[in-house]
Amino acid sequence: MSLQELKEKLGIPYYEDEDILIYSGDCLHLLDKVDPASIPLTVTSPPYNIGKEYEKILKTDDYVTWSSEWISKIHRITSENGAFWLNLGYIPLDGKAKAIPLPYLIWQHVPFFLIQEVIWNYAAGVAGRLFFSPRNEKFLWYVKDSENYTFNLDDVRDPNVKYPNQKKNGKLKCNPLGKNPTDVWQIAKVTSGKNRSSKERTAHPAQFPIELVKRIILASSNTGDIVLDPFLGSGSTLEAAIRTGREAVGIDIEPQYLEIAIDRIKKVREQIILEKSQKSLFDELSPRENDYKLQAG
Ligand SMILES: C[S@@+](CC[C@H](N)C(=O)[O-])C[C@H]1O[C@@H](n2cnc3c(N)ncnc32)[C@H](O)[C@@H]1O
Repeated sequence: MSLQELKEKLGIPYYEDEDILIYSGDCLHLLDKVDPASIPLTVTSPPYNIGKEYEKILKTDDYVTWSSEWISKIHRITSENGAFWLNLGYIPLDGKAKAIPLPYLIWQHVPFFLIQEVIWNYAAGVAGRLFFSPRNEKFLWYVKDSENYTFNLDDVRDPNVKYPNQKKNGKLKCNPLGKNPTDVWQIAKVTSGKNRSSKERTAHPAQFPIELVKRIILASSNTGDIVLDPFLGSGSTLEAAIRTGREAVGIDIEPQYLEIAIDRIKKVREQIILEKSQKSLFDELSPRENDYKLQAG
């Protein structure tokens, strides 16, 4: 399905540019308008039911029912070889758990096939006194067909190899593109606060890092594919899609966040134009000037 065909199904977007559609509204309604088996990749982080400013706390059972409802809708619209990456955290469970991983609660309700749970390990966070300081969230990598799914490992290899030139029987032991990045990803959280705010920080209270979404998109989709984020927030998925040459659709129920996402996309577009013009200027310089620039750093 092309982005134009998707637009015909979803109706007039809140905002669009050449590769992006943004919709305002409840994703549970909008997802019903999308054709079955038409979306190659969904990457998202829904509300965790922990009382953030964009959520009304539900009873745990109701939250699980709601989760199972929207996840089934994602399953219906996912392409036969498509994938669904779901970021979830923890919630307290009365008399049962101080912080239970949300994947434990929804496990039985997800119709996808689980390829892997990836641990997102971030460096900063609250300090525990009577428990270990929490430093991870989960990303669940689901696919529709366990035998037929996209995995572009070479596009996400980690070039940080300790002994890149080590050989066995005359052959390099490690792939020259780098090593498999494993199922534990150490990527810094988007932080806020005076003197410690991340460069990519927006005013959204639960933004996930662009590096993380980029890795998922590169690994689980191909150039030109459509990527969906039904809980768009600040638009991290859209920025990552633009930067990796994909098309993307985002939905959020709160127009104030859509405005943040739109502002962000416009800035990314401007930045890309600037980077391209700087590159072509650099390419136009004579080889001697380029040598000089390289030496000068
Ligand atoms: C955890 S945040 C997503 C943050 C996002 N990953 C980012 O990087 O900024 C969840 C978002 O879901 C939105 N939301 C909550 N219920 C929704 C619904 N029914 N349909 C669409 N969006 C919804 C909230 O407004 C919030 O922005």
